[in-house]
Amino acid sequence: MLYRKCLPMLSVAALASQVAGQYQAIPPSMGPFFDEATLGQLGDFGESNTGVDPATEIASWYDMTDVWRTAQKVLSPAVWSRVAGGSGHEESMRWNSHIFEYITFRPRMGRDLGNASLATSVTLTNGAGVAATFDSASPFFISPSGSHGVVNPQVAENGTVRAAAAAGVIAGIAQYATVPIAGLGAIKSENQTYWYQLFPDANWDPDAVLAKLDAAKAAGCSALILTVDTASEGWQARAWRDHGDDPTGNTQQHLMTWEHIEWIKDNTDLPVILKGILSVEDAVMARDMGLGGVYLSNHGGRQLDGAPAPAQVLMEINKYAPGLTSAIPVFADGAIYSANHALKMLALGAKMVGLGRPVQLSLTMGQAGVEKMLQNLHDDMLVEMRQVGVSSPSQLGLKNINTQRAVGFVYDGELQ
Ligand SMILES: *[C@@H]1O[C@H](CO)[C@@H](O)[C@H](O)[C@H]1NC(C)=O
Ligand SMILES: *[C@@H]1O[C@H](CO)[C@@H](O)[C@H](O)[C@H]1NC(C)=O
Ligand SMILES: *[C@@H]1O[C@H](CO)[C@@H](O)[C@H](O)[C@H]1NC(C)=O
Repeated sequence: MLYRKCLPMLSVAALASQVAGQYQAIPPSMGPFFDEATLGQLGDFGESNTGVDPATEIASWYDMTDVWRTAQKVLSPAVWSRVAGGSGHEESMRWNSHIFEYITFRPRMGRDLGNASLATSVTLTNGAGVAATFDSASPFFISPSGSHGVVNPQVAENGTVRAAAAAGVIAGIAQYATVPIAGLGAIKSENQTYWYQLFPDANWDPDAVLAKLDAAKAAGCSALILTVDTASEGWQARAWRDHGDDPTGNTQQHLMTWEHIEWIKDNTDLPVILKGILSVEDAVMARDMGLGGVYLSNHGGRQLDGAPAPAQVLMEINKYAPGLTSAIPVFADGAIYSANHALKMLALGAKMVGLGRPVQLSLTMGQAGVEKMLQNLHDDMLVEMRQVGVSSPSQLGLKNINTQRAVGFVYDGELQ
């Protein structure tokens, strides 16, 4: 049985027993960002380490490598592989991060940065053309990612959304959340923003879609993240191997055509953000259809291995459809492991950047873990944004980066 399908059947006790202390030291030369495939194949997670104190761990987090070390220390090999791993040979997962090395900043000096702020707002338009503006303390948001109860059965998504509220950032709520949507609605803070992620069912069922939208609205969700990259679930060999899953018959998960997308846009008053877009043509179609936003993502390298990195897609958009990123808000995720990755995405035209694995892995240390991870990114971003020479994320643009070494990665054929 596939992992995702069996998650809801795991009891909290069974989940907790998986969160056994297992420790595999990461060789110092291997950053967890770039050698995940190798790490996954090391196999022997050997000696246990159950004496993990969250406060001590969190106090030792300086950047995302520390979060990764803690998570690998506490998660069972099967859970670690599921969260830290990707699909296939994990080429897209590594590429999401690698591509940033081909882009450098063009820092400017002597600017007045005394009022520098990360405050960000984004305006989304629904199918009827009604606009709504959402404020965030920073351009980071929580990407919807499923089953937070697997990494932390004690708090699950409750820890995630409370950390998002404390940090003042928007929380994407996954359809496959461990905590039912109504439960998350019950703990939503007054001024907090939730956006709901919808995967339509394998068999198109308009009534089921409407029921999910009603439940999301009742829980206070104010936009829809419609995920369109799961025609089939990714071939997540590493996670399946370590969990003993049988992938036989894993051929189709969700049906989603442009007709369905348009139907959803026309049948909800929530703005629709289309998630999983990986080409300029599809971004243009989303814009022309009047959707609320375009969300570039290769699902953290968990769907099609060999899919382009979102940063690469932004360059493709800038080449073939300049102006698109100012006509419709563009979101992006994929290896936002440091402020400089975020700054480069924003300079390329993303309005906000999402965090998936960083949230899952920091949640191993509870709400406080997610808060610390977000705080580090926030502070790092202020530092690096000043060093680039701008005082607001909205001032970032192509002038702030040099993509010359990366242009060879941009599609050069005819558009279809
Ligand atoms: C999350 O919060 C909801 C609402 O208070 C509660 O019903 C549920 O038990 C909580 N779940 C966890 C895992 O803490
Ligand atoms: C919510 O926002 C309003 C308006 O900005 C503010 O007056 C109020 O204090 C906020 N409430 C909370 C709980 O943050
Ligand atoms: C800071 O002040 C400058 C000059 O008044 C202004 O151009 C800039 O937009 C301000 N930045 C922020 C983040 O308010």
